[in-house]
Amino acid sequence: MQYALLVQLNDCQFHSGEALAKKLGVTRAAVWKHLKSLQAQFDIELYALSGKGYRLPEPIELLDKTHIDTALRKEFNDVYVETFLSIESTNQYLLSKVAQGETGTFVVLAEHQTAGRGRRGRSWVSPFGANLYLSLLYQIKQPAQGLMGLSLAIALAISRALHELMGINVQLKWPNDILYQGKKLCGILLELQGESYGPAAVVVGIGLNVRLSSEDKKQIDQPSIALQDIVANKVARNLLAIGVIKHVLSVMLEFEQVGLTRLLSEWQRQDAFLDRPVSVQLGNNVIEGISRGIDENGALLVEINGQVQRYYSGEISLQVRQ
Ligand code: BTN
Repeated sequence: MQYALLVQLNDCQFHSGEALAKKLGVTRAAVWKHLKSLQAQFDIELYALSGKGYRLPEPIELLDKTHIDTALRKEFNDVYVETFLSIESTNQYLLSKVAQGETGTFVVLAEHQTAGRGRRGRSWVSPFGANLYLSLLYQIKQPAQGLMGLSLAIALAISRALHELMGINVQLKWPNDILYQGKKLCGILLELQGESYGPAAVVVGIGLNVRLSSEDKKQIDQPSIALQDIVANKVARNLLAIGVIKHVLSVMLEFEQVGLTRLLSEWQRQDAFLDRPVSVQLGNNVIEGISRGIDENGALLVEINGQVQRYYSGEISLQVRQ
């Protein structure tokens, strides 16, 4: 009902409660209740004028399951797409599917997350209709070199999509952050069930900032940027989602066969920290050295006192020394 109401209001004309009720086959009281819940639950701004009704200040490009599904099916068979107005976490939803024995390839997108998850137990700020929150469930058969490098490969896929669709060049921060001008544009959360060197169900969660208000940015504990801060044209979220999903699925197939081998130099060219002094947080310890890129397994290389050390753990955070 909330979705149907938004579709009606999306022309940004005034709609009376009565007209909306008639159109949707419900009572005026039900319309009023759902409009209130749209405002309260999702912080959606609605203009109300007595005698005229309600209108949205500007249209929201809602995620369109049919559009996304049709575009993906042209290239990928057996990919199932689901969209939600609101969900706890798209990653959590797919992990529950795995727990129930699901073995297919799924893509889930949501307009809003009530408990969006970030890496290292952080939360992911997920305002309604503003960004992309999407997760893919993929059954990886026998990855060529373990799953260590997969998150790097996925970051590269998103970088390719952003370059192709919007002409922007991003930087990559090990293991899988996407930065623009040193600020975070996109985060990736990989969650696995199965063997890291054998068959596994992989849930790839992608949070890509499209439009962040200054209030949203204040809630995020690191400098962030959104596509709408970078490009002047209005970002078409459905096309963006399709491009990102296509590139991610293609990279997954490639990674499954040959690992990071062919992707390594492309990744290194976009490395935000290559040959720069860095601090690496390992649990409670911090080590300092010079970042020397990554190896073919996706490990971070850090030169410390002339010796190159490899770091594999996802717990590591990388920071440029002040
Ligand atoms: C990070 O901390 O950098 C990773 C953020 C990943 C956020 C995305 S949003 C879609 C998916 N669902 C979640 O709960 N998290 C991921």
